[in-house]
Amino acid sequence: VVIRVELGDRSYPICIDPGGLAGLGPAVVDAIPGVQRCILVTTDGLADLHGGVVLAALGAAGIAVDEVRIPDGESQKTVATWSALVAELLDIGVQRNIPVVALGGGVTGDIVGFAAATVLRGVPLVQVPTTLLAMVDSAVGGKTGVNTAHGKNLVGAFYQPSLVFAAMDTLQTLPPRELRCGLGEVVKHAVLGDHELFEFCVDRAAQVSRCDGTAMVELVHRCCRVKADVVSQDEREAGLRAVLNLGHTVGHAIETVLAGTDDALPHGECVAIGLLAEARWAAGRGDCAPDVPERIAALLSALDLPTAPPRVDRAAIEVALGFDKKFRHGRLRTAVVEAIGRVRLADIDAAEALTMFHSIPGIYDA
Ligand SMILES: NC(=O)c1ccc[n+]([C@@H]2O[C@H](COP(=O)([O-])OP(=O)(O)OC[C@H]3O[C@@H](n4cnc5c(N)ncnc54)[C@H](O)[C@@H]3O)[C@@H](O)[C@H]2O)c1
Ligand SMILES: [Zn+2]
Repeated sequence: VVIRVELGDRSYPICIDPGGLAGLGPAVVDAIPGVQRCILVTTDGLADLHGGVVLAALGAAGIAVDEVRIPDGESQKTVATWSALVAELLDIGVQRNIPVVALGGGVTGDIVGFAAATVLRGVPLVQVPTTLLAMVDSAVGGKTGVNTAHGKNLVGAFYQPSLVFAAMDTLQTLPPRELRCGLGEVVKHAVLGDHELFEFCVDRAAQVSRCDGTAMVELVHRCCRVKADVVSQDEREAGLRAVLNLGHTVGHAIETVLAGTDDALPHGECVAIGLLAEARWAAGRGDCAPDVPERIAALLSALDLPTAPPRVDRAAIEVALGFDKKFRHGRLRTAVVEAIGRVRLADIDAAEALTMFHSIPGIYDA
C-alpha cells in the first residue's frame, strides 16, 4: 500500500509493505532517482535485530551503505547526540545528494531527521520506522528535533522525508508494551478522523493485540492517511494540525506529573487515558453523544490500554498544565470530539482545560 503526502514539491510516499524490509531497496531507488550511496543511521539494538536485512536490501538495489550508530532512548534525544551525529555524517563525507536513512523508533527518527534537516542545510531523508508509534505518528509529518533541559522537542525543524517505509516484519520484535503505546495513538487517530478505523479496531482487537501482519497493514495505512490528510492541510501547525493533539492535553499533563515516580506511565498509555477523559469532557459539554466515551473506553480495554491513571494530584496537574507549551495567551487550542471519527477545534482557557480532568476517577486534591 502506498499513500502520498501531498505537499507540492515536498510531497512524498509512505510505503506500507506487508512484504517487509526486503522491499526497502527498490522503494529508495524509486523515491530518490539516481541514488548510489546512502548513510544508514540506527542504534545498536536495531542494527542487531534488523540491520542485516536492511543492508542486504539496499545492497541488492545497488546502493552502497555507510553505517552510523547513535545511542538509544529518550534520555539520549539531546543536542549532544544530534551534534555528534552531524559530526560523524560530515566525517564520512555526507553530500547534498546522499540520503540519510533512519532505522528505529520515534527517538531515532526525530534525531536523525533533525540531523538530515541541518547537515549541509538539508540532505534527503528516508524514515524506516520500527515501532508502531513511529509508523503511525512520528515518522509522518515532518516534525524533527531533540529535547533540551527546558523540555521536550524544543529544538528542531519541520523537514519532510523523501520516503517513509513502514515494514510490518519489524513489529514482530517490538516489546508488547511498546506495541500498546502505539495503539494509544492509533485509537486517537481513529477518534479524530476515521470511524471505520475505530470499527476495525473493535472487530479485530484480538489480531491487533497480537500484531497480526495483515491487520497491522490496514491499521498503519488508515492511521497514516488520517495524519497525512491533516499534515497536507497544515504542514507547520498554523491551526488544523492541533487536532492531532487530541488526548494530549490531559495525557501530557498526566505523563509529566507521574514522570520519575513509581507510577510513571509511557506516553501512549497517557494518551489513552487522556483520550477518554477528553471525550468524557466533550460528552459532558454536550458536544458528543454519551455513548462516545463509553465506546472509547471499551476499545481501550479490549486493546489492554489503561483508562484511568494511578491517583494523581490535582495541584500537580494544574502546574503541569500551566507549563504546557500548547497554551498561547492563556488559551489552549484543543480538539473537541463530536463523534467517533470527527472533531472540531476550539480555544479554551485554563479553567476549562482543568475541567477535562474532573471525569478521571482517582484524581484527588492534595
Ligand atoms: N516527530 C513527531 O511528530 C513525533 C510524534 C510523536 C512522537 N514523537 C517522538 O517519538 C518518540 C517516541 O517514539 P517511540 O515510541 O518509537 O520510542 P523509541 O524510539 O524510544 O522506541 C522504544 C524502544 O523500542 C526499541 N525498538 C524500536 N523498534 C524496535 C523493534 N522493531 N523491535 C524491538 N525494539 C524496538 C527502541 O530501541 C526503544 O528502546 C518520543 O521522543 C516522541 O517525542 C515524535
Ligand atoms: Zn503522542
